[in-house]
Amino acid sequence: MAAPRPRPQPLLLLLVSLLAASAPRRADAWGKEGHIMVCKIAEKYLSEEAAAAVQDLLPESAGGELSTMCPWADTMRFRYHWASPLHYANTPNVCNFNFSRDCHNSRGEQGMCVVGAINNYTDQLYTYGDSPKSSYNLTESLMFLAHFVGDVHQPLHVGYEEDEGGNTIMVHWYRRKANLHHVWDVSIIDTVMKDFYNKSMDTMVDALQTNLTEGWSDDVGHWENCANKKATCANDYAIESINLSCNYAYKDVVQNITLGDDYYFTRYPVVEKRLAQAGVRLALILNRIFDKKKADTTPLYIQ
Ligand SMILES: *[C@@H]1O[C@H](CO)[C@@H](O)[C@H](O)[C@H]1NC(C)=O
Ligand SMILES: *[C@@H]1O[C@H](CO)[C@@H](O)[C@H](O)[C@H]1NC(C)=O
Ligand SMILES: *[C@@H]1O[C@H](CO)[C@@H](O)[C@H](O)[C@H]1NC(C)=O
Ligand SMILES: *[C@@H]1O[C@H](CO)[C@@H](O)[C@H](O)[C@H]1NC(C)=O
Ligand SMILES: *[C@@H]1O[C@H](CO)[C@@H](O)[C@H](O)[C@H]1NC(C)=O
Ligand SMILES: *[C@@H]1O[C@H](CO)[C@@H](O)[C@H](O)[C@H]1NC(C)=O
Ligand SMILES: *[C@@H]1O[C@H](CO)[C@@H](O)[C@H](O)[C@H]1NC(C)=O
Repeated sequence: MAAPRPRPQPLLLLLVSLLAASAPRRADAWGKEGHIMVCKIAEKYLSEEAAAAVQDLLPESAGGELSTMCPWADTMRFRYHWASPLHYANTPNVCNFNFSRDCHNSRGEQGMCVVGAINNYTDQLYTYGDSPKSSYNLTESLMFLAHFVGDVHQPLHVGYEEDEGGNTIMVHWYRRKANLHHVWDVSIIDTVMKDFYNKSMDTMVDALQTNLTEGWSDDVGHWENCANKKATCANDYAIESINLSCNYAYKDVVQNITLGDDYYFTRYPVVEKRLAQAGVRLALILNRIFDKKKADTTPLYIQ
């Protein structure tokens, strides 16, 4: 099923290389597409109460769709510099994640990583509907939460400190220069959309949703299983991610390697599954927050 790769245009290639060279080290999380798709999936599984609260909190510019706001946190990385470490976590080059060892920013402040951020913004959203009114900007809390639940599922957002989650590992994705982190944020998704989904996010989301009710239906209960009543299960999602980083993302990759069909065909199913898991779990978290009567007991409604 190997689809031929288009021949890259020399000028485009040059531009891409120049951009890659000048880009900040820590690339965005899942590209825009990844975040939008995670949230499009989540929107399909929101309870009525959760959907209403989300509508209430979304800014006007969202046009009523959570998914349009899910890349927002990446656009704020320069303005909200403090939030930059909240997109990821690094381990000391080991294949396990330990919150007290790994969840901090460069100044050593505890909790300043993607796992702490998910729990932080979840806590803030629990104040929705309080009177007097919550002192948090819950619109921002929602937009951060939706973004970071996506991030924690991108395997290389829980990667090795030494290579900054794959950002310093230069590779070729077929014939294009990229770093490994970018391959997992963007390139695999782009290639999958081109090869299987006619370059359409909606077509891809539909395929993932079909799988949630068919191929993965036995697994979904397990994905949703979250025994942690005090916080979200973001810690578990980070543990899964570092494991996937070791077993898939980093596996057999060395500096300057060319990644092609062998890598692509064994890794894209992981990416598809992580996008779907992130969507299901974001809905789970939002339903728990906003649908307080039924919290904890209701499994996601599978359409
Ligand atoms: C996690 O890291 C902390 C701090 O480094 C350490 O004290 C603790 O034993 C570790 N926990 C596990 C389960 O390895
Ligand atoms: C929690 O949210 C507040 C408000 O956005 C922010 O100042 C703080 O740094 C956040 N902490 C974490 C761990 O996300
Ligand atoms: C809350 O945050 C949003 C997004 O940053 C902003 O547009 C809005 O003005 C903020 N609301 C308040 C009351 O500060
Ligand atoms: C693919 O998308 C194009 C527009 O982008 C559309 O014209 C075409 O019909 C689509 N093909 C399929 C098989 O859906
Ligand atoms: C659907 O699930 C099956 C079984 O896990 C998997 O092989 C396939 O790649 C999945 N398809 C999509 C679109 O994710
Ligand atoms: C890590 O991955 C291996 C191989 O895929 C799997 O057998 C193991 O259960 C995973 N461990 C965790 C903690 O997820
Ligand atoms: C990777 O390629 C660059 C130039 O393209 C070269 O300078 C560098 O030494 C190579 N690194 C390794 C580990 O092969």
